Amino acid sequence: MKHLISAGDLSRDEALLILDTAEELARVSERSIKKLPTLRGRTVVNLFFEDSTRTRISFEAAAKRLSADVINFSAKGSSVSKGESLKDTALTLEAMGADAVVIRHGASGAPHRLANWVRGSVLNAGDGTHEHPTQALLDAFSMRQRLGRIDGLKVAIVGDILHSRVARSNVLLLSTLGAEVTLVAPPTLLPVSVERWPCQVSYDLDAVLPKSDVVMMLRVQLERMNAAYFPSAREYSRRYGLDRDRFAKLHDDAIVMHPGPMNRGMEISAEVADSPRSTIVEQVGNGVTVRMAALYLLIGGENQ
Ligand code: CP
Repeated sequence: MKHLISAGDLSRDEALLILDTAEELARVSERSIKKLPTLRGRTVVNLFFEDSTRTRISFEAAAKRLSADVINFSAKGSSVSKGESLKDTALTLEAMGADAVVIRHGASGAPHRLANWVRGSVLNAGDGTHEHPTQALLDAFSMRQRLGRIDGLKVAIVGDILHSRVARSNVLLLSTLGAEVTLVAPPTLLPVSVERWPCQVSYDLDAVLPKSDVVMMLRVQLERMNAAYFPSAREYSRRYGLDRDRFAKLHDDAIVMHPGPMNRGMEISAEVADSPRSTIVEQVGNGVTVRMAALYLLIGGENQ
């Protein structure tokens, strides 16, 4: 494995290796001194062309806990604002000797293009509406931590599937790992290609909830919407929001997830988001260990 660009590129064994490595590394995070020397002398560049809180911070923490040198690049304040292309930015990074480049970009496919221009490993931290593989890995890790398995789990992914790179990566990874995924959304928020995805589709959240072990709520990505995809925020919430009454339809062991950032009161109520059966805060913590595992497996070898 040289790059981590799509969750669909991972075999079952590769995905499980990342999750198992993350489990071992999680023990380091419990120690008072959290650092390991594993990536000493390696350079990790975080290249963020789009805003991020969780992914950017956790990739930085992950690289630092493995003792890598970390260079943080954000498009704001860089020469990108003067029109510098992704390729020229990549060649600048190449000259700095990056062993790994973590990239978030608004254009689907940007990490794939970058991989043609740099010698180091490329890790996709979210590209447009395409994929967010480390989010799917940390979600799978969080499911296994809470429920003890992934194989056979019934997972509902609910909301703005159309604009969600998280949904696509989760469908690809969870199907590889043996979970049964159902996407739940209004027809306007489903991509045309969804019929080719390895999952079921439903428009009826109330019917899906009682059968689900995991309910993953997605943010309504208003910033990517240039048209009206639903009548009003209130109507969306009424049909597809997870509030107290809908939460009561879940079985006792079912968990609620959200990749963040949340629109509290729209796709998820504050009461549900903060309930003991929500894994939202755990997901953020698990993001550090899963990203440590990905960096370690990609650039931690002897021959780097
Ligand atoms: N889940 C996620 O990607 O969050 P950020 O946009 O804050 O990185």
